[in-house]
Amino acid sequence: MLNNKLNKNLLVASSHPLGAMTAEEAYLWEKLDLARLPRHVAVIMDGNGRWAQKRHLPRIAGHRSGTQSARITIETCARLKIEALTLYAFSVENWRRPKTEIDFLMALLREYLRKEMPLLQKNNIRMRFLGRIDELPAGVQNDVRDAMEKTAGNKGMELCVALNYGGRAEIVDAMNAILSERNGHGTSPKITEEQLSQHLYTEGLPDPDLLIRTSGEMRVSNFLLWQIAYAEIFVTETLWPDFNRARLLEALLEYQKRERRYGGIGEAEPSDEKPARAAGN
Ligand code: FPP
Repeated sequence: MLNNKLNKNLLVASSHPLGAMTAEEAYLWEKLDLARLPRHVAVIMDGNGRWAQKRHLPRIAGHRSGTQSARITIETCARLKIEALTLYAFSVENWRRPKTEIDFLMALLREYLRKEMPLLQKNNIRMRFLGRIDELPAGVQNDVRDAMEKTAGNKGMELCVALNYGGRAEIVDAMNAILSERNGHGTSPKITEEQLSQHLYTEGLPDPDLLIRTSGEMRVSNFLLWQIAYAEIFVTETLWPDFNRARLLEALLEYQKRERRYGGIGEAEPSDEKPARAAGN
């Protein structure tokens, strides 16, 4: 007979896509509609500092613990066959932090890429980095390039790490790329939404359907400003180091409750009329 303690950490068949699960995870999994998962999930991993503070630990302990939540989120999304996951690891504004914290974050990322390479390969994950990568320390740039090269042939989930990333900087970079392409070519002065999208760091990726932010802050913090135009936003009070697989499944379930209208009217209010204009016109 299963005792209560064992039952709480119930193991299900090893052939399950998520492997062993707790009873809570199995309960949430049962409710999930695998045919209606988001194609692209973006995450603002916030609350590392507060998590550490609550435990009278230095802020960097929160960042280190946050890598475990990143690992769980990455592996779960890959196993759910979500097309893309974008994690906000370091913003252009984060340079305002103390140098020791910045150095620690850069070292942590390098360590993560080295240590987690087997997990990334096992899960067929392709890595990509979004941001002004050429402004990062040379060692970080090398590791970033190396991680992309090593995983370039993988055909599973695309894992994007936003690093030295800013949404406004990204749009400015895209505009400058368009301008420099045009130099000397007498092309039309009009820039279209499609053209701008093709020059963003996220070129070729679907826009995020779901944006998760931990730690309860109601801000988008210069993250994927263009791409989240119609993303469903899920804010949880959970601090990033406490974010686990059950919390991720909850976010996906909440996403599945939302009705996505893209500025149109809902399916609950059908209309016989055709749309007056095509979207974006
Ligand atoms: C925000 O918390 C978190 C960061 C700025 C860094 C996030 C980085 C990691 C979790 C490292 C691992 C990354 C990868 C991709 C493996 P905060 O410091 O702003 O927290 P606070 O708001 O409580 O101070």
